[in-house]
Amino acid sequence: MPNVQMTKSINVSDIKSRQIFWDLTDASKLQAEYDADDKLSYLETASLDVLIKIFHEYRFFIKYFISDLGILMFKAPFGQFKCMIAEIAVDELGKTPDRTHLKLWDDFLISLGDNPKSLEQSRHPENIALLEDLRRLMLEESFFYGVGLRGMGAECLCQVYLSSAYKRLLKNPNIQAMKDNINWVFWDIHTGEEDIEHGELVRNSIDDMLQVDESGLRPLAEGYIRAKENWEEFWSNLYDTYNLT
Ligand SMILES: [Fe+2]
Repeated sequence: MPNVQMTKSINVSDIKSRQIFWDLTDASKLQAEYDADDKLSYLETASLDVLIKIFHEYRFFIKYFISDLGILMFKAPFGQFKCMIAEIAVDELGKTPDRTHLKLWDDFLISLGDNPKSLEQSRHPENIALLEDLRRLMLEESFFYGVGLRGMGAECLCQVYLSSAYKRLLKNPNIQAMKDNINWVFWDIHTGEEDIEHGELVRNSIDDMLQVDESGLRPLAEGYIRAKENWEEFWSNLYDTYNLT
């Protein structure tokens, strides 16, 4: 499966230069990998109930991610990267609570039919443990590790994954039947050109820092590899639970 090959092909000892790292984490390669991912293809046929259960859990990823960005901003040295992470955090939070991306996701969930009264309840403690693990690593590991984990690992990787998921979701007949009643604001923001540019900005800013301090490359790569494994485990737990694989 492309998914597994790609994960195995990134070995931290192979990453001897910035260029090798950028080649291995190239967004178009990642897109091809997720577009070919069998697990994602099940979103095309899953029942509405299963879709709600799966997407319900993603809200916790968003919740942890926004606060982890605060840790990354705190650890970053003063400079361009720190300003950029602060700006991304502002985007994620929105200017008012009703524009926070977590709220936009909840609006999507409720429009699908999720229960607004139980949004805060996760059915998957194993996934909450994965998010707690990311939080712990953000606090304990070095700044560059955190950049790989939540800068590259979330801002670049998640956007690509969501784009792939979106394509599959739109093909699902259950979704097609209620398309006009679904609140798509979160997806519109995260699968459009703007988010792709966001990913590019993050990559360029990281590259600028690496040019000044090459020693950041190894922890950066380690953080990114960990983020990718964690992310894929998060989704696999859900697909496996609901017999989508
Ligand atoms: Fe977001």
